[in-house]
Order: sequence, then structure tokens, then C-alpha cells
Amino acid sequence: MAKPQRRYTCQLCGSVASKWQGQCVDCGEWNTLVEEVGGVVTPFAAKHDLRSGGRAFQLSGLDSDVALPDRLMTGIAELDRALGGGLVAGSATLIGGDPGIGKSTLLLQAAAKLALAGSRVAYISGEEAADQVRLRARRMDLGQAPVQLATATSVRDILTTLDSGAPPALLIIDSIQTMHSDLIEGAPGTVSQVRASAQELIRYAKDRGTALILVGHVTKDGTIAGPRVLEHMVDTVLSFEGERSHQYRILRSVKNRFGGTDEIGVFAMQSEGLAEVANPSALFLTDRDEAIAGAIVFPAVEGTRPVLVEIQALVVRLASGATPRRAVVGWDSGRLAMILAVLEARCGLSFSTCEVYLNVSGGYRIADPGADLAVAAALVSALAERPIPADAVAFGELALSGEVRGVAHAGLRLKEAAKLGFGRALVPGSARDAGGTLATNCFSTAGALVDHLLGR
Ligand code: TYD
Ligand code: MG
Repeated sequence: MAKPQRRYTCQLCGSVASKWQGQCVDCGEWNTLVEEVGGVVTPFAAKHDLRSGGRAFQLSGLDSDVALPDRLMTGIAELDRALGGGLVAGSATLIGGDPGIGKSTLLLQAAAKLALAGSRVAYISGEEAADQVRLRARRMDLGQAPVQLATATSVRDILTTLDSGAPPALLIIDSIQTMHSDLIEGAPGTVSQVRASAQELIRYAKDRGTALILVGHVTKDGTIAGPRVLEHMVDTVLSFEGERSHQYRILRSVKNRFGGTDEIGVFAMQSEGLAEVANPSALFLTDRDEAIAGAIVFPAVEGTRPVLVEIQALVVRLASGATPRRAVVGWDSGRLAMILAVLEARCGLSFSTCEVYLNVSGGYRIADPGADLAVAAALVSALAERPIPADAVAFGELALSGEVRGVAHAGLRLKEAAKLGFGRALVPGSARDAGGTLATNCFSTAGALVDHLLGR
């Protein structure tokens, strides 16, 4: 009989190796190779291909009638918005985020709100003792909510318990890394355990029409710990972001099979839990009375909502020949290097003997590609120590050629800036007429922006 061939599959990138290694040669991750026994082809199977012997099924068109999925509104508008309009019955949602960012707090609030509205809600904590959760609920004044609470880590125990009664409308598992399935070996938190536990819980949710929310821990590089397959298995992936030292938290939709992925929910962490922030646009602005060199406001757009943030640059000239530092908070460091290169190569500015620091105010992280022009303006202003007027905003994308390109939602950005009292905008030519009451300065190249800022 043919001996099954041993193969080792990386649980992160799916690459296959013939022998076990500590590090995957393709993606470079450590301890992700897991043995998978290769398929043994039986003599019977070898004689038949897959074109017969199966059960034929009906194919139908895209226009066949379908009922819209049932939505369960959590009553927390910012959460419902990030979910694309509430939770879908029978769906699985993964919510990731750094430890202490507020995942448990948010989910406890959602659970309590739904329970108070009459839905059956089960909250299973694998991390905190039930009393700890109760105390937290009491502190947030939610102690009266009829949430079904327990501490458990065995998926078999959890499903046995749930199956003995009516299924809950919402089941929260906090967190999937603490869950353990006795169907397979391995400690909780390992790739295979996380996958197996999630699989069982998702199957339960689909069978019973329960909306399932899994909490997932995040590794240092920001991906949800455990296998990438977890993200494939669930219907929706939300990421809870923010700087722990700041009050503001953003719930971002990364994947959504039932809606768009461009909406965000904004919250503020307060002593009595997370408060919704319905109008986030001026949230991240520091008090701006006088113009400071190196600072400019960028009107970002998240989904359909404008969010105004301040971009701050600091350029420090070095006397010695030491390697200058470049540090970025709230933006992409590769993108900063690109903007610096464009300013050097296309505009004749020199940052090579300068340390460059870039910061986005309020702990906000910019994901919008239109920030290039604002960053360039902040850098030039910092280098030349010439303040940009405090009532100016800037947006636009920079190409490597130094060209300034248009970005989406120009009108929305300018309208919001005007609403908050800004008077002028540095924009690409395509946004010339979108200004309304705002005066626009249009630029087609980075060089023209530099000339304008330096008064040349
Ligand atoms: P938590 O929800 O436990 O985070 P996670 O589950 O993502 O690890 O949030 C814990 C943090 O939130 C903790 O540092 C204290 C803070 N917090 C408040 O500031 N106010 C509150 O009302 C609560 C419940 C927590
Ligand atoms: Mg927690």
C-alpha cells in the first residue's frame, strides 16, 4: 500500500514544504508549519474521474428571489454602522484589536443593550471571571441587563449548555484564543485549536440563526493572532483601533460579506464605558489659534464621513554626520519616505541631514490616500520654518513624478472644512470648483506647492 506522503503546510500563507521547519521559507513566519497527511489515492478512485457519480444540482440566475437577511440592531449606532446596518442572524463576526483597547467593554455594552431590548444574549468569557464582568457591568450601570453570562473555555461545554435551551440571538465569545476543542490536540491559542474552535462555534451559529461575535487578539504587527484562515471563515471582520493613551477609538470594517467595508464607528472611552461620537469631524483637531510651522489640517474621509485631523511635522537639522531618524505616528512610514524623495528629487529641497518626525494629532491613524499633499505642505513648512495660515486645509495625492492628483470626495472634504470655519484649501486642480465658500489654491505639481509655501 502506498505510504502517505508527509507534507507541512504553513497556516498563514499556505505554502507547502516536504519537511518541518521552524520558519516558513515563503512568508518568514515562525512556528506556522503544521503536518497535513497527503491524500492517498485508492485504486477505485484512480479509475473514476469526478465527472460522474455525484448528485447534480440546479443552477439559477442572479435575479432569483432572495429574502434580505434578518438584521439585529445592537442599538449602538456606531457599532451598527461599522457592521453595515446591524448584526446578521446566523453570521459570524470577528473583532480584533490591541489588548485594553475596549473590545470587551464594547461587546458588554452591546450585549446589555440587546438584552434590555428583549433579545436572548449569551456572553461567554474565557479571560475574565464572571464576577469581574459583573462588576464592570455594574460600573457602567448595566447591571440590570438580563445577559446570560458565564466563564468557560471548552467549546464542548459551551455548545452543550447552549443546546439545552433556546438558541440566543447573539453569542459573544471573548476571546477565541482562549477556547479549546477536545476534538483535536493542542493548547488553546494554537493555530489548529483556534481554527477548530471557531469552526464548531460558526457551525452552531449557522444552524441556529445565532449572530456570533468572536473576539480575536492582535499580534504586534497588527494582524489577528492565529491563522489567517480565521478571517476567511467569518463573514465580517472588524478592527478596533486607537492609541491607548488617547480617548478615541475607531471601529473599522475590514471585511463584510453583508455590506461595505468603508464605514467606521467612532467612540470615546469614558469612565462609564464607551460613548458614541456621532460627529467625529473636529475630534482630532488640537486647539488652533495661531499658525505654527509644520502643522496643517487634513480633511480625511472615512466611508461617507469627513474627519478633520491635524498633521504635524518637525524637521531637525543635524550638525554631525549621524544617520538622521525618520519617525511616524499615525501614517505609513514608507509613504513618508516617498514624499521626502519627491520633495528632494522634484523640488530641490534637502532633508538628508535632517531628522524628520511626523505625527497625526489625537491618536488618529490615517488610511485615506489623499493625505500626501498635506504631509508635503507640513514638511516644507517645517523645513523652512514658515507657518501655513491656521485656517488652511490641504489634500491631494502625490505621484512620484511630482504631479498632484485628485482624490475622491473633494466636495465633501471642502464642505466640512468650511463648516468648521476654515477659510482656504490647498488642493489639486480637479477640486477647483468644489470649494463653495472656501477659497481654493490649486496645484498641479509639488514644485508649485513649494513655491507657494515659500513665497517664491
Ligand atoms: P477592555 O474592554 O477590557 O479591553 P479589551 O477587551 O480590548 O482588552 O478595556 C479595558 C480598558 O478600558 C481598561 O484599560 C480600562 C478602560 N475602561 C475605561 O476607561 N472605562 C470603562 O468604563 C471601562 C469598562 C474600561
Ligand atoms: Mg477583553
